[in-house]
Amino acid sequence: MTEKKDLDWGSLDFSYRKTDYSYVSNYKDGAWDEGALTSDHTIALSECAGIFHYCQEVFEGLKAYTTQDGRIVCFRPDMNAQRMADSAERLVMPAFPQDRFVEAVEQVVRANAAWVPPFGSGATLYVRPLMIATGDVIGVKPATEYQFRILVTPVGPYFKGGDTAVKLCVSPYDRAAPHGTGNIKAGLNYAMSLKPGMDAHAAGYAENLYLDSESRTYVEETGGANVLFVDRDGVLVVPVSHTDSILPSITRRSLVQVAQDLGIAVDERPVAWTEVVSGAFVECGLCGTAAVISPVGEIHDGDTVVVFEDGHESSGPVMRRLRETLTGIQAGTIEDVHGWVRTICS
Ligand code: PLP
Ligand code: COI
Repeated sequence: MTEKKDLDWGSLDFSYRKTDYSYVSNYKDGAWDEGALTSDHTIALSECAGIFHYCQEVFEGLKAYTTQDGRIVCFRPDMNAQRMADSAERLVMPAFPQDRFVEAVEQVVRANAAWVPPFGSGATLYVRPLMIATGDVIGVKPATEYQFRILVTPVGPYFKGGDTAVKLCVSPYDRAAPHGTGNIKAGLNYAMSLKPGMDAHAAGYAENLYLDSESRTYVEETGGANVLFVDRDGVLVVPVSHTDSILPSITRRSLVQVAQDLGIAVDERPVAWTEVVSGAFVECGLCGTAAVISPVGEIHDGDTVVVFEDGHESSGPVMRRLRETLTGIQAGTIEDVHGWVRTICS
């Protein structure tokens, strides 16, 4: 087995640390080149590259884990490949072939095996595929040259305090236009969430909860994770967007399946903010690759405070069960009945 880097894995937070290799492939004259690992973690570009002007950029996020029996695995990389292809299509970028995406993830994780945190450390290797327009454009149109790259970096929990419940506030801003780009993973969605995010942090909140921007009636998601609720009958309630502006989280779609496997009823439907305010839900959580499932204890909207009574301090029973099952599958301690876990090194 590869000798691990000498890091204090348990104290890592969610920040970037250079590893040994990234993966890079360039698109030119209508084709992707063969791609390769690189130890150069910088990119030199023309000042006229499309990324700088019209923001043609899409990205992904997944993790590599060390299992209890010492394998290095990743979770459903085919889903990230598909979503990145969907994101690219929306921004008129050439998709990186999906089978090559999965092979590239494997190659770069294998090359950085020493950086994959050990089993039980609470840390993981975050894998960040991205694609940018590198070709020159000055009129508003898609570029003809692109770079696909994957960087990896070891990370700890996204929200400080791990399972300590966080507070959200309902954002006065919108995250995504109706039928806009909220359902793809494009950097532009995050650029406009930075100010609302900083304002929320300054006011003592971990994240913003965004309502639908068409009617400001329905719960959509937060800046970096989908939202889940548990109602008073123990049903997992999953918000759906009328305007297709929620990112299709792979974690959320996996948790819906896990819930069904565990015999937990699931209701995927639009959720009105007034229903949340009425006290219909006893648990709330944020789910995503980075967030895993982070408990939400309270949501504030001006003077209105919604308290989730079964998860006010830390995860409530349903969220805890879901998280333990999902992370158990990822760590190889619970059987992977759906074939979601892909072994990279054994
Ligand atoms: N929603 C947003 C806006 C995100 O940035 C993310 C992170 O990827 C998610 C949801 C969760 O998606 P996934 O579970 O695929 O990581
Ligand atoms: C992820 O969960 O992978 C994301 O990309 C979310 C991001 C806000 C860190």
